Amino acid sequence: MKSFIVAISGASGAIYGIRLVEELRKAADTVHLCVTGTAFSIIKTETGIDWLGKSEPETEKKIQKHYSSKKIKYYSETNLAAPIASGSFITNGMFIVPCSMKTLSGIANGYADNLIVRAADVSLKEGRGLIISPREMPFNAIHLENMLKLSRLGVKIAPPVPAFYQKPKDLNDIVEFVVGKILDAGGVKHNLFKRWE
Ligand SMILES: Cc1cc2nc3c(=O)[nH]c(=O)nc-3n(C[C@H](O)[C@H](O)[C@H](O)COP(=O)(O)O)c2cc1C
Repeated sequence: MKSFIVAISGASGAIYGIRLVEELRKAADTVHLCVTGTAFSIIKTETGIDWLGKSEPETEKKIQKHYSSKKIKYYSETNLAAPIASGSFITNGMFIVPCSMKTLSGIANGYADNLIVRAADVSLKEGRGLIISPREMPFNAIHLENMLKLSRLGVKIAPPVPAFYQKPKDLNDIVEFVVGKILDAGGVKHNLFKRWE
């Protein structure tokens, strides 16, 4: 029984998180998903998808409908009583895609005031896989120091940076490549791009 946590925070590049959930849904029995308030509005701005409902169950229903799957469990960022807030609830790893500089800072400084930072804090204390995809341009020294701190703790820093040796034909090829590299960082098998030989 494999399960993963996916968090979508309020950075640009919501499509990467949305596509990641699609892939993890195939690889796992359950995907535990948390989306911040800002992320919901960025998802709407960047993709036109409106996931936010009036309540946690209503939002979960919309998300499950989007993926045609009940494998996705959704928790509000304020739900600090959710299973993923506890170290006793075991998962196979956590992905934060995209990761805002605010969420990055919260994790690097142990300031667990929402469910995403709490679940990441739990992943760190329990020594479980944590993969984050920080997105900002340019990075300042605070951002870089926070990333270095987390990297030294074993967090995989996998920013959404495309490569061009794949000769991408369109945006979809770029999204597939970036999500594939994020899955590689988490040790999850996929078939999203052709490997260099
Ligand atoms: C359209 C939009 C795009 C944003 N893009 C980024 C971004 O790429 N990186 C970032 O660190 N913050 C970005 N922000 C700012 C964050 O959303 C803001 O700092 C927020 O407090 C992050 O909170 P969260 O991590 O809890 O979602 C963006 C905000 C908006 C409205």
